[in-house]
Amino acid sequence: MPDSSPQLPAELAALLKEDRRFPPPPWFSTTAHVADAGVYERAAADPEGFWDEWARELEWYRPWERVLDWTPPHAKWFVGGQINVTVNCIDRHVRGARRNKAAIIWEGEPGDHRTLTYFDLYREVTSFANVLKSLGVARGDRVAIYLPLIPELAVAMLASARIGAVHSVVFGGFSAESLRDRINDAQAAVLITADGGYRRGQIVPLKRTADEAIREAPSIRHVIVVQRQAGAPIPVHIQEGRDHWYHRLMEDAPSGCEPERMDAEDMLYILYTSGTTGKPKGIVHTTAGYLVGIYATTKWVFDLRDEDVYWCTADIGWVTGHSYVVYGPLANGATVVMYEGAPDWPEKDRFWRIVERYGVTIFYTAPTAIRAFMRWGTDWPKRCKLDSLRLLGTVGEPINPEAWIWYYANIGGSRIPIVDTWWQTETGMIMITPLPGVTTLKPGSATRPFPGVSAAVLTTAGDRVEVGGGLLAITRPWPAMLRGIYGDPERYVRQYWTRWNDSTYFTGDGAKVDEDGYFWLLGRVDDVLNVAGHRIGTMEVESALVDHPRVAEAAVVGRSHELKGQAIAAFVTVKEGTQANPALADELKEHVVHKIGAIARPDEILFAADLPKTRSGKIMRRLLRDIAEGKTLGDTTTLADPAVVAKLKEKYEEEAG
Ligand code: WTA
Repeated sequence: MPDSSPQLPAELAALLKEDRRFPPPPWFSTTAHVADAGVYERAAADPEGFWDEWARELEWYRPWERVLDWTPPHAKWFVGGQINVTVNCIDRHVRGARRNKAAIIWEGEPGDHRTLTYFDLYREVTSFANVLKSLGVARGDRVAIYLPLIPELAVAMLASARIGAVHSVVFGGFSAESLRDRINDAQAAVLITADGGYRRGQIVPLKRTADEAIREAPSIRHVIVVQRQAGAPIPVHIQEGRDHWYHRLMEDAPSGCEPERMDAEDMLYILYTSGTTGKPKGIVHTTAGYLVGIYATTKWVFDLRDEDVYWCTADIGWVTGHSYVVYGPLANGATVVMYEGAPDWPEKDRFWRIVERYGVTIFYTAPTAIRAFMRWGTDWPKRCKLDSLRLLGTVGEPINPEAWIWYYANIGGSRIPIVDTWWQTETGMIMITPLPGVTTLKPGSATRPFPGVSAAVLTTAGDRVEVGGGLLAITRPWPAMLRGIYGDPERYVRQYWTRWNDSTYFTGDGAKVDEDGYFWLLGRVDDVLNVAGHRIGTMEVESALVDHPRVAEAAVVGRSHELKGQAIAAFVTVKEGTQANPALADELKEHVVHKIGAIARPDEILFAADLPKTRSGKIMRRLLRDIAEGKTLGDTTTLADPAVVAKLKEKYEEEAG
């Protein structure tokens, strides 16, 4: 069991003293999907009935016999039902008034743009589904996707879902080794990539990285390569027989492809995320429950309506992009804005120019981005017309009240609500969130569980905390919940369902509840870091470090960081005869980037003669965290050699200057 004692930040007391309240503006409530707080009680009285009603809004081949089969900790939702996700995201819109409505408005970083209507999307997806079939991809096969944020990414996911294949999207910022490990774990048959993508004016050479990855990924039979810019290919190596250009394959592919009738519990996708060991977990999501959960939350949390222009800035390589760029909004027939690149390219007003250009009405981003905007100053948003906006959202990490207020005032013009949404790769859907037409907002609080969701703050012993802090638990199954960890059923049980009992889900987060029953999220209490809204396992970084020939031992901890939420601090001991110097520190940082990807680059490396350990040899991360945070050290009496930590602290303070 990892060291997972809750670390409750001290800011909380201060936060709870804040008495600023933001009731929903009347103009918003008047037209909102939900304007009556009675939904909470009605859903709580009959959660299965609540989800059953939502499921009726979707199009099924065969209705379900039972809403839920719950054999803790294994759930099946909409048992016996048959459905295809793409019929709900595309076909039913094409049949009606949304046929020529914009489904995806995409802008590339260099400034190119494309719009796909629902009918365009139908043709692209069904043609590409036929391409996949022609390459022998069958129902149940895994399809790995390693693409920049371009429309083909959504097309590839939907085409897989069309034919019952399981997609595994790997974020384009991951290294060749990370990609290789994910392909091998899922035994993917096909890889879809691109010649490259753009980030801050640079080309990200995806195909080159993919080539390196598949050298050791024997399950891959075919590689499909999207040309990022038609007619302007980025030079790549094409291996005859194995590699195929996307546009060539599409030339001959007929559109129209009979959707597979999927069982409610058939796998829809795998998405890898960091956990408390060195090996990422392949989170498994299935078909019907996931679709119901994200359909409902997208509609109510974002109060989504037909005339909205909805923009979630997340990369599709993360769960936020899966649920709230692709599946949720498309299931609702929305117009989705997608942007490929960086917020500060070519200038720091890029996001606001996009809002202005397309008349974005709903804008959903991460607190890290908001803190960057704060630092860049209000002149950038002021230059653009932002009055089309009617709702703002945040996700990915706790938002500090200062950032919340800044966002509210400078982007929202002090007139529109903010939904702070808490959820995880594992939950698939938003779990704790305001409903913008009914919830009075408190800056820094994600407020209350979505109707039909049951969350609680529990003590380590499992007692419910009515007011105060503890560990966040989900106490009832929910439709979009993960169904497992790919290929590792034991880890699923151990990781999520053994903290208290097998019907109480452990989130890994600390939280507090206040007198109004509002939840305040406090960050991870396990060995998972949240750096700029990205999940990174300390053990993953540690294994990357000890993989370096000159490293003997490594311990990685998070420390608070003004902009990124958390920064990565690595304590390293080197092997005999090795000179620990700044050049080696740089080399080690690069080594981590090479092994995992740039998102995991340590912010600082501290060389230590020894690491503090208990008498049984366990590294005391708690003490290292205290050192990295510059705090007074807690209890050191369980240490094998208390002098080690005193020396380390002294050294750290010296180097930190
Ligand atoms: C954190 C991202 C506070 C949390 C959707 C969680 C948040 C982890 C919030 C999941 C929020 C996400 N307030 N913390 N609104 N949203 N988190 O799997 O620690 O990438 O456990 O899913 O992000 O990260 P993941």
